[in-house]
Amino acid sequence: MSRRILVTSALPYANGALHIGHMLEYIQTDVWVRYQRLMGNDCQWVWADDAHGTPIMLKAQAEGIEPEQLIARVKTEHERDIAGFLLSPDNFHTTHSEENRELANLIYERNRDNGNIVRRTIKQLYDREREMFLPDRFVKGICPNCGTPDQYGDNCENCSATYDATDLKEPISQVSGTTPELRDSEQLFFALGNFSEMLREWTDSGTLQPEVANKLREWLEGGLKDWDISRNAPYFGFEIPDAPGKYFYVWLDAPIAYIASHKNLAARTGEDWEASWKPDSDVELYHFIGKDIINFHGLFWPAMLEGAGFRKPTGVFCHGFLTVDNLKMSKSRGTSITIETWLKHLQPEYLRYYFASKLSGSVVDLNMNFDDFITRVNADLVGKVVNIASRCAGFISKRFDGKLAATYPADMIEDYRHFTSAQSIIMQYYEQREYGKAMREIMLLAEHANTYINDAEPWVKIKDPEQAEAVQQICTVGLNYFRIIATYLSPVLPELASKTEQFLNTSLTLASLEQPLCDHAINRFQPMMTRVEASQIEKVMEETKANADAQKPAASAAGSKAEASLEPLKPEIEIDDFDKVDLRVALITDAQPVEGADKLVQLTLDIGIETRTVFAGIKAAYDPADLIGRRTVMVANLKPRKMRFGLSSGMVLAAGPGGSDLFILTPDDGATAGMRVK
Ligand code: 2FM
Ligand code: ZN
Repeated sequence: MSRRILVTSALPYANGALHIGHMLEYIQTDVWVRYQRLMGNDCQWVWADDAHGTPIMLKAQAEGIEPEQLIARVKTEHERDIAGFLLSPDNFHTTHSEENRELANLIYERNRDNGNIVRRTIKQLYDREREMFLPDRFVKGICPNCGTPDQYGDNCENCSATYDATDLKEPISQVSGTTPELRDSEQLFFALGNFSEMLREWTDSGTLQPEVANKLREWLEGGLKDWDISRNAPYFGFEIPDAPGKYFYVWLDAPIAYIASHKNLAARTGEDWEASWKPDSDVELYHFIGKDIINFHGLFWPAMLEGAGFRKPTGVFCHGFLTVDNLKMSKSRGTSITIETWLKHLQPEYLRYYFASKLSGSVVDLNMNFDDFITRVNADLVGKVVNIASRCAGFISKRFDGKLAATYPADMIEDYRHFTSAQSIIMQYYEQREYGKAMREIMLLAEHANTYINDAEPWVKIKDPEQAEAVQQICTVGLNYFRIIATYLSPVLPELASKTEQFLNTSLTLASLEQPLCDHAINRFQPMMTRVEASQIEKVMEETKANADAQKPAASAAGSKAEASLEPLKPEIEIDDFDKVDLRVALITDAQPVEGADKLVQLTLDIGIETRTVFAGIKAAYDPADLIGRRTVMVANLKPRKMRFGLSSGMVLAAGPGGSDLFILTPDDGATAGMRVK
């Protein structure tokens, strides 16, 4: 009996372009969904844009348009990219829909009636100039833990401490540049603690990846805090039915849109969507997500569902982040490549295959390296796979009138079975999201097929008229191998699969592989895939950098962190104030990652008179090894600060908004360690 499966991917925010980092998850989902369909299962992928929240409201304001206009435009762009990358969702809806409003209200009201919503008055930062309460990411100030200036309202890039925005010292609104004030505000909270027992059971049920279960256990052990599900006007979202002027926090209605998208799809298909969301449903439900949103899908979401009498997910499939050359993607380095830019210069299947060849079922990060990318695509897809077809096709069409041999050579049947019996392990790997392992098995088959053709030398035999029949048989065997390989690859390479169907004049299904294709007319071979050239990658990176540069002057606080507005100037100081700061040229003699602190690098700095240890929050921007031997500028008389990882004696100077867009000052042209900087 075939399985019924509902699948979701995380919903992209409707205020920005999709890039290759998003695509990692979407390709992972698409391959799984297509594999399920290949197996004959009824698998639906329901998905949407995440259209609510402050950043979207502010971005629309900055553009002088209504949020509805912004999200409509971005949705069209996202849909274009989804189609361009051959993704096959059954529905791509939006969180800003009537279905979602109704479902969010329903889930909220049921939770409220079941005693899971509490109201409390809390203090929040308020921007008087813009007349709005400030979300954490829109406030910056001095870290209350280590004193580093310029930190966001939720955590410190330098010491990794997490805190409330109200704890920041000298907070500045990133929307107006003014100092916000503390105001009382009544908010609605979801009593997550009511679900501790259920969540513990769920965590231990064995359906989650071990890394995810461990993370959830950590949170469960730390105690579950109430979750603030409301935001004050002005906010772009759904107004809470019994709390005028308050809106559902974007993260409340976002996952509910999984259901809303399914409901919207069912209006077209006539399916009984509600049955799938009842606790006793036998439909499997899986969410593909990144490791940054485990708390939402592992704690809040199952609790909200349970509290409203809905079913819980069967599983949450969590993946790591995409890094490029082991660094976070960055626009200025040209590695944060949008889908629009990619598709101008490169085929989607190159990336689909590359990601598949590196993906596993675990939460580890996936590193992309462009040399490796070029080698994999050219060696595997062009050199091994398509090569099988192109070596055999010409003989069949030119010498045998496009017909495969009448019967399959008896001495090759056993080898044919070797190819068909690999199906079981390959499909098992797809099921477990071990795509890298699946690709390796398939490439072994492709190597086997190439060896067979090499040894059989049809190009030699064709010269001897007596061997014509043998050549037809060799090419029939080769093309049958190609058919099997293209079928196994079809979840990853749907376009190659449809070109193969056209060429072999047959549908690629698992069941039909049971019998080899013989006595069958095929079509003329058309080139299926071209080699990737390094120059194409260069173009993509150049365009990415150029787009980043073009965006800089127009950057606004409504965008992502890297696009944050230029900070307002600090108040004027006297020359004596400046003179107090002892800036020195420092030679970086060692740079090491810091265990337990993702963002920090431990620098050993030679300043001529002495050696200093400084912890700098620059890991996202620099590979520590690349820093050794360079010079930088440090504040040498900053009072040493005790940090979790040791004593930090000074601070290095860097420019940029932070994260991967950070540039340490490098007076590398001859400045000597210890020189005063004035
Ligand atoms: O992290 C994000 O990009 C969110 N927009 C994902 C939402 S997924 C879901 F819960 F809706
Ligand atoms: Zn700090």
